[in-house]
Amino acid sequence: MTNPKIDSNMKKIAVFTSGGDSPGMNACVRAVVRTGLYYGMEVVAIRRGYEGMIEGEFMPMESRSVSNIIQKGGTILGTARSKEFMTPEGRRKAYEQLRAHGIEGVVAIGGDGTFTGAKVFMQEYPDVRFVGVPGTIDNDLYGTDYTIGYDTAINTAMHAIDNIKDTADSHSRLFFIEVMGRDAGFIAVRSGVAAGAEAILIPETKTSIDDLAGVLTRNYNAKKRSSIVVVAEGDETGGAYHIADTIKGKIPYHDIRVTILGHVQRGGSPTCMDRFLASNLGIGAVEALRIGAKGVMIGQQCNKIVHVPFEKAIKYNQRIKPYLEDIMKILCAI
Ligand code: F6P
Repeated sequence: MTNPKIDSNMKKIAVFTSGGDSPGMNACVRAVVRTGLYYGMEVVAIRRGYEGMIEGEFMPMESRSVSNIIQKGGTILGTARSKEFMTPEGRRKAYEQLRAHGIEGVVAIGGDGTFTGAKVFMQEYPDVRFVGVPGTIDNDLYGTDYTIGYDTAINTAMHAIDNIKDTADSHSRLFFIEVMGRDAGFIAVRSGVAAGAEAILIPETKTSIDDLAGVLTRNYNAKKRSSIVVVAEGDETGGAYHIADTIKGKIPYHDIRVTILGHVQRGGSPTCMDRFLASNLGIGAVEALRIGAKGVMIGQQCNKIVHVPFEKAIKYNQRIKPYLEDIMKILCAI
């Protein structure tokens, strides 16, 4: 906790989820609602992200409104990627709705698009204070060790890869498995290392197709029963189908299959780590509003709550941490 004793005049806050949903968002909504009530605030929830803000879809929340949701995936509030909020007219409508409902502070749970929207909004309407909570399976926000939903997603991906390995091994096949991560390879790296992948292709590093083909040929010649290549959705090779075709052209005798894990990674009951992180960040967000913070993402670094300005949080710099690169170098064939 930052400092629960600080007095605040903030009487009414709102919470919403936005962008791609992620497991643990409900746990965060629950924490925001209950923390707000704990500090004597009125709390409302906004349905369907910025769309619902514009349309005035506000719901008063009580403690019981968030009962029995901590274990549920998705978001009970619904979410959207709002085109209208990107226009000055849309933001004006949103502002009028917030003022009409007497909202002084807003907790936005989402990813870079959500925070970019909040940043632009606050430049135009500085009297409404926004703080953000990182909710995305991609883990691609700067300034927090993990984002809400990432741990659940990597466990889902890892179990799926384990299942595929069983059948790959039985049939002596080479699988290319695509995991989510539009601009980032974090899901691929963790799930790939944890599932013992041969190779992990991520957008942050360039892959040599010839080197990959060389490793897979060596495996084949050595009668290795199966090989798994994990491909991040955003990898520069163009995704799992594309790279599988390229490799097929170079080693045609290999029995190759492709699996796209897709949205299965976005759902499911959040892990204990995600529920705990979401709870901690939700508390941190309300406490941040109480001490007058605005325009910041509430992150967690080495188990401590930190405030990261939106502009820094969204400037993810396309680098995988060196220790992760080292792990891949040592434990993967390429
Ligand atoms: O940002 C999270 C994410 O799951 C990305 O990894 C993926 O590219 C994208 O959302 C998919 O978005 P949608 O659900 O709109 O297809």
